Amino acid sequence: MLGALGTGAVSYLTPLAAYAKTPSVIPYGAAVRTDPLYDDPAYKKAILDHCQIIVGEGGLKWIDLRPDRYSFDFTQADRQLAFAQEHGLEMRGHTLAWYAAMPDWTETIASPEEARLELVTHIQTVVGRYKGRISSWDVCNEPIAELPTRDAPIRDSIWLRQLGRDYIELALRTTAEIDPGARLVINDYNFEQANDTGRAKRKAFLDLVRELKAKDVPLHAVGLQGHINARIPIDRPGLTAFVAELDAMGLGVLVTELDVIDDALPAPEAERDAAVADFAKQYLEAIGEACKPEAILTWGISDRFTWVPIWFTRSDGLPNRPLPLDADYQPKPMMQVIKDFARSFDQ
Ligand code: G3I
Repeated sequence: MLGALGTGAVSYLTPLAAYAKTPSVIPYGAAVRTDPLYDDPAYKKAILDHCQIIVGEGGLKWIDLRPDRYSFDFTQADRQLAFAQEHGLEMRGHTLAWYAAMPDWTETIASPEEARLELVTHIQTVVGRYKGRISSWDVCNEPIAELPTRDAPIRDSIWLRQLGRDYIELALRTTAEIDPGARLVINDYNFEQANDTGRAKRKAFLDLVRELKAKDVPLHAVGLQGHINARIPIDRPGLTAFVAELDAMGLGVLVTELDVIDDALPAPEAERDAAVADFAKQYLEAIGEACKPEAILTWGISDRFTWVPIWFTRSDGLPNRPLPLDADYQPKPMMQVIKDFARSFDQ
């Protein structure tokens, strides 16, 4: 086995920096914010040191792209893609059909015909612009209801209200038609939870993808977001069995938005970072028992930029620490967990 340094020397204490330079068979990436890519040298260095893939945390959502019904604003996405192309990074597209981050004008979509026209036109325009340059799309994001039931498994959205669940097929088929080379992904969360929500989401999601596969709808992979809530135990066997079912259907699996919601974890940083790393380890290992993920992305790379405090501020007022690098871009145990997990699949 070549050590991670590629010198033939087998090193069991590989310095983390070495991992960054020699990508493993499972590429790592992160959601990025556009401005700091260009105006924060330390942020840019962190992304370039560790990532092979980027995805916009924003930029390709309807709220970013569509100021009104008749126009598109590609400014953010173009800057993200320019950065990716300049530095030889892959870029994922997030996301074409979602219930959230929708501009107000979409609430006026009032018929199935209008909804079909808007969704198809949006996908044709956006996917067409980045054809061959964005390698993988979260075509549908979070289609499963928060707590799915037998009668209502699909989350409410303008698309569901006007087109029914067939909006998912329409989005996938339209994307495939515009960019046959793109990897089409449906992305969702909470599959890891050891509770009724986790069990219900796993079942509803499997029902959905089975239906799509039975109709030969183009779908290549599933995005497991991985926003792990540390209040809720990870259902390791449940997650492993779920991923095994996806794998058996010939679907790839990506971890797309990994972070650990730490508001209920202990305050001391070392203790909290260790717990965050352990949750990530449990999560990745449960997936790894069933398949080799085709990528691992975290939803941000540094605690300096994270969505978590929007919804999960700590009662002690301390900043959240959900990501692999701290707010000064220094690696935390979670980054080592990700690198070690990815390396474990190296031949
Ligand atoms: O850019 C505006 C700014 O001009 C304005 O002053 C400010 C005040 O409201 O809002 C800013 O926009 C915010 C945007 O993030 C950029 O920071 C939006 O309000 C805010 O809603 C938006 O939140 C994002 C959220 O998705 C909704 O799009 C989060 O950053 C982003 O991390 C989160 O990501 C989602 C994934 O897309 C799907 N999976 C779950 C994940 C976490 O919620």
